[in-house]
Amino acid sequence: MKAIFTEKTQSFIDQEDQYGAHNYHPLPVVLDKGEGVYVWDVEDNKYYDFLSAYSAVNQGHCHPRIINALSQQASKLTLTSRAFYNSNLGSFEKYITELFGFDKALLMNSGVEAVETALKLSRKWAYEKKGIPEGKAKIVFASDNFHGRTLSVISASTDPMSRKGFGPYMPGFQVIPYNDIKALEDLILEDPFIAAFVVEPIQGEAGVMVPDEGYLSTARELCKKANILFVADEIQTGIARTGKMLCIDHEEIKPDILILGKALSGGVLPVSAVLADDEVMLCIKPGEHGSTFGGNPLACAVAQEALQVVIDEKLAENAEKLGQLFRAELQKTVDELPLVTLVRGKGLLNAIVINTDENSDVAWNICVKLRDRGLLAKPTHGNKIRFAPPLVMTEEQLLECIQIINETLRSF
Ligand SMILES: Cc1ncc(COP(=O)(O)O)c(C=O)c1O
Repeated sequence: MKAIFTEKTQSFIDQEDQYGAHNYHPLPVVLDKGEGVYVWDVEDNKYYDFLSAYSAVNQGHCHPRIINALSQQASKLTLTSRAFYNSNLGSFEKYITELFGFDKALLMNSGVEAVETALKLSRKWAYEKKGIPEGKAKIVFASDNFHGRTLSVISASTDPMSRKGFGPYMPGFQVIPYNDIKALEDLILEDPFIAAFVVEPIQGEAGVMVPDEGYLSTARELCKKANILFVADEIQTGIARTGKMLCIDHEEIKPDILILGKALSGGVLPVSAVLADDEVMLCIKPGEHGSTFGGNPLACAVAQEALQVVIDEKLAENAEKLGQLFRAELQKTVDELPLVTLVRGKGLLNAIVINTDENSDVAWNICVKLRDRGLLAKPTHGNKIRFAPPLVMTEEQLLECIQIINETLRSF
């Protein structure tokens, strides 16, 4: 591997620092090219990508079939707005609703826009169908959630980094502890003004928090009993990441509203979707919600191919198989090294917890060393390191990555 910190690399970093907002703290590496499980920096150093753009690149970087769909459609028609029909939207809506088993889809762009859409749908349903008096609907979230960065969504956050300094907050939100059925039951069975419970099947940003088996299916049943919408935010966990097409498939449940984003486009374009049955989706009428780019023909062509790639290449099966191997191998390190307290996850969404407090820079330094050995990962919440490679990884590649991770951890 060539030197990572040359003047050339520094010049890119300096440029972002000078002209860009300081709203991220990137690992010092400047990426220039990607293919499959690999990315290359501006010095032509090659790395395994172990973040996959926060699980947006499940199909691997620049998947040839997705790029082909992009370029074919890009030279034909890219954007019409929803003022007119386009020849891709209906067929993609048919494809995605049949795939996930819902009556209707509403397409947006970023993940947080889809979350906002689900919140608006929940409130509208609560007033029109459940009969909650206008302005009184409440939506329940779990603590340590991450659903995005808009003002209303951060109003449901318990993370001071997301919230502090951005008030006043959106009213009508309530937070209960994650993975706590009793807290959910106590609240929703007694409060008639609750419209929905919004939950991540695994909390990715919180450090890959996997709830107890049965939590999601029991929560789903409770919501049904209380006549509350069960809203699954699968933006990070969906599209084969956890070893099934959806993470909720592990408990064989169907939410009232399903939210998808990230890998829906294979990381090629911002494409997100909200899926629901007619009873919920038709509560929103023409003129009440939309987006200039949402449902554009380019996004539809890309997303349809991206989903078909996941199916054709059996990426869920691969994620399940490699995830088992990854955790089994890392567990040996956890058993040996006091530096790492645990490894957890499902499929290829995993994390290790470093035996330091959240303010320590040890996890960051481990990630810098991993970079120097050719593997890119990023700490989340200080002392956790998320490991989420593209799902097109082979067993041989994974074993090489495990070796890199083990050697790096042992060097501390
Ligand atoms: C579970 C979940 N919901 C919502 C979002 C927000 O998605 P976006 O960054 O595309 O707005 C994310 C992003 O990490 C996420 O992990």
